[in-house]
Amino acid sequence: MQNDIDHVLISSERIQTRVREMAEQIVAYYDRQNPELTLVPVLSGSIIFLADLIRHLPIKMKLALVHVSTYPGRTTTPGESKTLLEPTGDIRGRHVLLIDDILDSGRTIRRVQAMLHALAPASVRTAVLLRKPSKAPTDVPVEFVGFDVEDLFVVGYGLDYDDFYRNYPHIGVLRREVTA
Ligand code: IMP
Ligand code: MG
Repeated sequence: MQNDIDHVLISSERIQTRVREMAEQIVAYYDRQNPELTLVPVLSGSIIFLADLIRHLPIKMKLALVHVSTYPGRTTTPGESKTLLEPTGDIRGRHVLLIDDILDSGRTIRRVQAMLHALAPASVRTAVLLRKPSKAPTDVPVEFVGFDVEDLFVVGYGLDYDDFYRNYPHIGVLRREVTA
């Protein structure tokens, strides 16, 4: 696996530090409201981020998983979202925090936000670990962002290529030959 990585973009240590800071921001934000909070992680890319983040959130919360597949198989450019499954838990009347790995074209988050709004939540806020600002659309509100990254295809810490590399602990850039 390591051999497929060209270089580390963000080390696991930097990720951990930033995830703790994001958790502090989220706690400060919701503490004021004492919310009925439901976290909505988008599968599968957000699972590592989610697992680390929620252990730094001392807030009573539920989880409702959604599944979207945007980059089907071996492509590194956004395609049409293939599947979008209903959340597995309570949304109605609850303060919802959507969690995703990366905001790229924004298509995924736009669709999930629309689906959530249709389920009558009390509020919808969004947290992403990574954002590609060169592409991120202005009409998709994202309140909490871990890192802004260049427009490169990255893997690790939950992010995949063809469903591989999710377990790579850093965020890394794949060697060109791997996706060629
Ligand atoms: P969007 O819909 O274009 O914003 O893409 C978001 C989804 O595409 C993410 O949830 C990822 O699953 C995937 N994605 C986008 N950029 C990357 C990348 O650089 N590496 C791995 N997956 C990515
Ligand atoms: Mg993906």
